[in-house]
Amino acid sequence: MAARHFLTLNDMSTGELEQLLDHASKLRNEWRQGKVRDSLKNRVLAMIFEKSSTRTRVSFEAGMTQLGGSALFLSPRDTQLGRGEPIEDSAIVISSMVDAVMIRTFAHETVERFAAASRVPVINALTDDFHPCQLLADMQTYREHRGSIRGATVAWIGDGNNMCHSYINAATRFDFHLNVACPEGYEPSEALMKEHGDRVTIVRDPAQAARGANLLVTDVWASMGQEDEQKAREKAFRDYQINPDLMAVADKDALFMHCLPAHRGEEISADMMEHPGSVVWDEAENRLHAQKALLEFLILNRLD
Ligand code: CP
Ligand code: NVA
Repeated sequence: MAARHFLTLNDMSTGELEQLLDHASKLRNEWRQGKVRDSLKNRVLAMIFEKSSTRTRVSFEAGMTQLGGSALFLSPRDTQLGRGEPIEDSAIVISSMVDAVMIRTFAHETVERFAAASRVPVINALTDDFHPCQLLADMQTYREHRGSIRGATVAWIGDGNNMCHSYINAATRFDFHLNVACPEGYEPSEALMKEHGDRVTIVRDPAQAARGANLLVTDVWASMGQEDEQKAREKAFRDYQINPDLMAVADKDALFMHCLPAHRGEEISADMMEHPGSVVWDEAENRLHAQKALLEFLILNRLD
């Protein structure tokens, strides 16, 4: 049987995603109670990072260890991947020795090519185009704080980037409406908008996007790989900040999320992390639990 991959949220059905999130919450509760679980005993996850990471690396590595398995950190700097060995050759070799592979790359196509040649499940741990693992944690966090997100309004404030793209996919998968407030020239992908246009509204004014929303989300103005654009982006995004004033136009029970790392004084005001609606620390921790559920699903084909 061909391996099941997780390259975007579209690789799982709504039913599977909802079961996975329930399982993730269960894993979190068991872990907090100190219960030992060794469902992935002797299993190995290879982790390939072309870009930096704190949360993704720690959550996957700790998650594998907590489930009785182990994880290998592979950087292109110290492997043949950085010296031009073809992706497909690397995929065949690495996937002949481990049980799953997690990759963070620039081009989304790299993950697709790796997956096409891999005999074990491949997980997208962020590309220039998508960040589906973060959405698992975000959706788990919303569910734990507010129940089902079905029918809710989510406001994305800022760049039409990889996180925004995964929110667009999530809008269809989890059945909510997404208002995107972004400056001209920084819209999400046209192809995605065509596919999910009925779920997404693009506006210029952050307050218009945030009005009555149940969840406000943002991300850095310049993503990894866009460091040269920092100055130009600071200008373009100056009015695209989540702060208490913007939270005040949202629903009174609105939550605030950010995948982190955050730049205080840019996409959020300095006080947003501690705002009463902020769930950013739960969101970060849930990367661990959601991905443990994902690893069990992909490696063991189990969702409970
Ligand atoms: N949110 C997220 O993916 O963080 P890292 O870049 O630290 O992994
Ligand atoms: N959009 C950001 C997300 C970081 C987790 C980036 O790609 O750098």
